[in-house]
Amino acid sequence: MKILAIDTSCDDTSVAIIESKNKKIKALSNIVSSQIKIHAPYGGVYPMLAKRAHQENLVPVCKKALQQAHLLRPTPRLGAEERGGSVSICADRLTLTQKYKVLNKILERDEILLEKTVKFLAKYDKPKVNAIAITNGPGLEPCLWQGVNFAKALAFWWDLPIAPINHIKAHLAANWLWKEPSRFEGRSHSVPFPAVGLVASGGHTELIYMPKIGIYKLIGSTRDDAAGECFDKTARILGLSYPGGPAMAALAAKCSAPPLCLGQRSGADALPRPMIKSKDFDFSFSGLKTAVLYNFQSQKKSVQESQDYKIAMAKEIQQVIIDVLIEKTLKAADCFNAKSIITGGGVMANKELRKQFKNRIKSNKLRFTFYVPRSTLCMDNAAMVGASTLLDKPKLTGWQKIKVNGNLNIC
Ligand code: KG4
Ligand code: ZN
Repeated sequence: MKILAIDTSCDDTSVAIIESKNKKIKALSNIVSSQIKIHAPYGGVYPMLAKRAHQENLVPVCKKALQQAHLLRPTPRLGAEERGGSVSICADRLTLTQKYKVLNKILERDEILLEKTVKFLAKYDKPKVNAIAITNGPGLEPCLWQGVNFAKALAFWWDLPIAPINHIKAHLAANWLWKEPSRFEGRSHSVPFPAVGLVASGGHTELIYMPKIGIYKLIGSTRDDAAGECFDKTARILGLSYPGGPAMAALAAKCSAPPLCLGQRSGADALPRPMIKSKDFDFSFSGLKTAVLYNFQSQKKSVQESQDYKIAMAKEIQQVIIDVLIEKTLKAADCFNAKSIITGGGVMANKELRKQFKNRIKSNKLRFTFYVPRSTLCMDNAAMVGASTLLDKPKLTGWQKIKVNGNLNIC
């Protein structure tokens, strides 16, 4: 079984080819085109620029993904009579002209994508894949639509079914992707259930109870900003580059001593740990952002601009987010009698967070098996979308039925 998977939920355009063989889920390719350079001047994702970039990128990224998976085959030249002849699609028989009419309708609002898709489909044959998987939510709707419309166009033209995939489930499914090409170190079917999942990304911070594979129940989420959003916004206050998470982590790594220049009493936390002791499994990070802003504004300009202050702040902000994420996840895992903790999302690429999660479980001799994808697979990518399709086995459907929902829930 081979899947062509697509993700355009935010600012990365990604296409992957995923294969399931001998119960292993393997990525034959996983191409990601980042838009960081486009959004960096704005300090965050600018949806309309992201939408345009997806239109430009989808076809070249798809071509590269097929090429890397050895599935890109040029169309044999057609004879004059065949060019105007009939082509069968599903139950209908459509002429090539009629087929182009449908394609135009699917991509009628996406001019750039339409032009590129028409050329691509004329030049290359249907690849040997069984279905198309597409993220249809949650995410930024103008971005999601680009991937969905492209998936619809491919599914229609190649007569393939579509699997609509939830982006949060896909972040968790990244844990089932086997390492490639030759060092298979995956652990797929061996994950013990029940499990508690943590997805911490730029748009979401969610705790999910998974009694078994394919069953998801949301047990907690952020009431305001997501963990990644907090990294991005506080980084901006400190004058760091976008995206804030990696910039903050790099700066925090330079701090060897506890942060002493932040104005806190000796031994006390410089910044609050929001909702760390609350009885539920929800998060809140906007108070942290405000506390960082007040701390910054209360400093002299010379301190604000000093590297020592920025380093100490970066370390403390990162530690607050780590403390809250670990504490609440362990509490949920304990409460739900989980055997595993399955994590994902861009924030889980944070080295210190990964290290402290593992250390805490080990040093406290906790019974949970901890899973985190490779750093590159924590970030948005299409391989995880394909993995979710093969893992959760959602109902495949026709291209006409796919809809976008920017606020799609996990359950
Ligand atoms: O999962 P993702 O790629 O996209 C969304 O679905 O949102 O996550 C992006 C988020 C950004 O907020 C970024 O700052 C954060 O993940 N991030 C990190 C690190 N790398 C990316 N946060 C902390 N430490 C990192 N090393
Ligand atoms: Zn994501």
